[in-house]
Amino acid sequence: MADPVSSTVEDGIAVLRIDNPPVNALGAAVRGGLMRAVEAAGADPSVRAVVIAAEGRTFIAGADITEFGKPPIPPTLPEVIAAIESLSKPVVAAIHGAALGGGLEVALGCHARVAAPAAKLGLPEVNLGILPGAGGTQRLPRLIGAAPALRIMAEGKPVTAAEAGDTGLVDEVAEDVLAAARALALRLADNALPAPPRDRTNLGAREAFEAEAAALTKRHADNPSVAACVDAVRAAFEKPFEEGLAVERAHFARLRDDPRSKALRHVFLAERAAARIPNLPKGTRARPVARAAVIGAGTMGGGIAMNFANAGIPVTLIETSEENLARGIERLAGNYATSVKRGSLTEEAKAKRLGLIEGRVGLEAAADADVIVEAVFEEMGLKKEVFGKLQSVAKPGAVIATNTSYLDVDEIAASTDRPGDVLGMHFFSPANVMKLLEVVRGERTSPEALATAVEVGRRLAKVPVVSGVCYGFIGNRMLSRRTIQAERLLLEGAAPSQVDKALTDFGFRMGPFAMTDLAGIDVGWRVRQAMGLKTAPVADALAEAGRYGQKTKRGFYDYSADGRTGAPDPEVAALIERIAGERGVTRREIPQEEVLERLLFPMINEGARILEEGIAARAGDIDTVWLNGYGWPARTGGPMFHADAIGLPRIVARLRDFAEASGDENLRPAALLVRLAEEGGSFVALDARAAA
Ligand code: CAA
Ligand code: NAI
Repeated sequence: MADPVSSTVEDGIAVLRIDNPPVNALGAAVRGGLMRAVEAAGADPSVRAVVIAAEGRTFIAGADITEFGKPPIPPTLPEVIAAIESLSKPVVAAIHGAALGGGLEVALGCHARVAAPAAKLGLPEVNLGILPGAGGTQRLPRLIGAAPALRIMAEGKPVTAAEAGDTGLVDEVAEDVLAAARALALRLADNALPAPPRDRTNLGAREAFEAEAAALTKRHADNPSVAACVDAVRAAFEKPFEEGLAVERAHFARLRDDPRSKALRHVFLAERAAARIPNLPKGTRARPVARAAVIGAGTMGGGIAMNFANAGIPVTLIETSEENLARGIERLAGNYATSVKRGSLTEEAKAKRLGLIEGRVGLEAAADADVIVEAVFEEMGLKKEVFGKLQSVAKPGAVIATNTSYLDVDEIAASTDRPGDVLGMHFFSPANVMKLLEVVRGERTSPEALATAVEVGRRLAKVPVVSGVCYGFIGNRMLSRRTIQAERLLLEGAAPSQVDKALTDFGFRMGPFAMTDLAGIDVGWRVRQAMGLKTAPVADALAEAGRYGQKTKRGFYDYSADGRTGAPDPEVAALIERIAGERGVTRREIPQEEVLERLLFPMINEGARILEEGIAARAGDIDTVWLNGYGWPARTGGPMFHADAIGLPRIVARLRDFAEASGDENLRPAALLVRLAEEGGSFVALDARAAA
């Protein structure tokens, strides 16, 4: 294999180039190559100065996340950086694209740094449950001050080149970053060697650091990585450099081996794996998309149109009447106005985005769109009628998508003479906020249409996950299992607050009943009525009593105090007892652990079936759906990753208990779950085997 680090010497400057696509992660081969190149430049008498640069779209994205947890291969990154730092010749980093994590730490081992205007520099390790582990916590504070350095680490968000220029993190910002780095290297070679960051003394006032530390620790109280960053940076005040490094190292090793970090690394890799479409013929290309149309300016359609406008794609928003159109446009304009008021959007950007949304009446207005998203009422008859018209309106090659939550995408596709162009693009509410996009691949969806929808999702800054066709697709199909259990738990003796607490303690922002009260109990009730479902007797009874949730000040909880804070309501308790009595359900005190297992294990079981049936291509795809569409806490990695952590044999045993106790055959463990449990397998291993 070619060495991923090459070196050329010209005019007394050795330019070391890292070439490890896609993002120049610092895997073992890169570390080894960099070490050799640095040593060679040090030993070559014709070399007066060194520039470290990278090929491709970015500088260095950091340590290779796929190597975490595997036996380390020398040289380590701290050793490579120490070698750079101890050269007696000036070393300049030439940064284009991203210098993140270990990538920025390499740059901090250099004597100086030059960045391109579009460069991003950061230490995002806290997002992976660790802290910078190659000297970042010691070098950055000494270079730019402990307080601003801690902020960069604790927030985990990159800074721009201009900001880095202001703080002294970079010495120069230049369009031609390589030329500027060479010129700077030569200037430094002509003068005394500047002190590298480790020998700088810019820590700043201790009080300023402690104030920042207190604020950040409070803001990120749930993230142990931030406390570790504080401790490591504090060591920069109290201990010599090498001892500070040891403090950092100890935290790094502890956090890296913690289940939390393992889960967060899984989340990062699963999300990126989900973007790879399974079984796509080689050479399939996404079709170009310059213009979009959205049918229906209701709750979802308005939000979906905003997504296109936010991404700079002109969009036609189509309704049945001027009145509906005006209402829809008013609502989305109101959303933009709120963002302006909050300071997250400028007036100018708002005007530009609104300017990209054109409201029209009548489906003919979709004629020039490359992608059409239908978001009319959830009724099969209506959807078929709309698609029947769209088949002749839409231009050849346009992708025609439905945002349906539950309906059969194949049946909708069959109502057209171009089923290859039809698929699902299932956005989540609020559509302009939630990151998940389920792309539903119909039986006859063409590979190009599928690739186009996934690419559009990426352009809209969504996390696209491909799903097959089934009732509720990946996410809602699993959710419905949880909903059934949540209702049963009420009848068996749990209070709504006990059920909600089980999930908020687990890490969800809201429990199912608080969530239903917020969304409106009537919404699900109407759907269940239309479909003849009797899966939620308590919610149905509440809706029949006019208790729709927050909007009527009463639902599963009582909101009469301030309209937003739900208090337990004795009336609801009585109603639940009555229904339980009518159904002959014996009530008992249910241990909190059982409540949680009853909510999560049936979902995991349904996830296993979804995998078995090939609806999802990977367990990681299911995790990605729940993390981005339903607020599953990232620190546990998603339902399937969490199942591995609990242990599949336990889940199988508990599901059998639940099936016995309830007589509900649906709770019997899925064949895949049983097989993996018996083999000592796991969902993570299953995905790894499929990828190999
Ligand atoms: N290690 C391994 N692979 C990585 C990687 C990393 N650090 N960063 C990105 N990749 C891979 C992705 O998995 C993806 O792979 P596939 O194409 O096979 O799916 C590919 O690179 C492209 O990534 P993105 O789709 O994310 O590309 P993007 O252009 O949208 O974003 C990026 C590029 C901003 C660099 C983004 O990938 C990113 O934020 N990467 C992670 C940065 C990070 O967290 N670095 C810290 C690592 S930990 C560390 O460095 C510890 C230490 O102190 C030693
Ligand atoms: P909504 O009732 O808020 O909006 C539907 C809009 O479609 C209305 O404004 C209506 O006037 C318009 N409409 C109806 N027939 C039309 C036609 N022939 N041409 C143009 N416009 C027409 O409904 P909502 O909630 O936005 O749902 C739309 C779709 O999105 C449904 O399929 C729903 O299942 C799905 N969905 C809804 C989610 C939610 O949380 N509300 C989440 C994800 C998907």
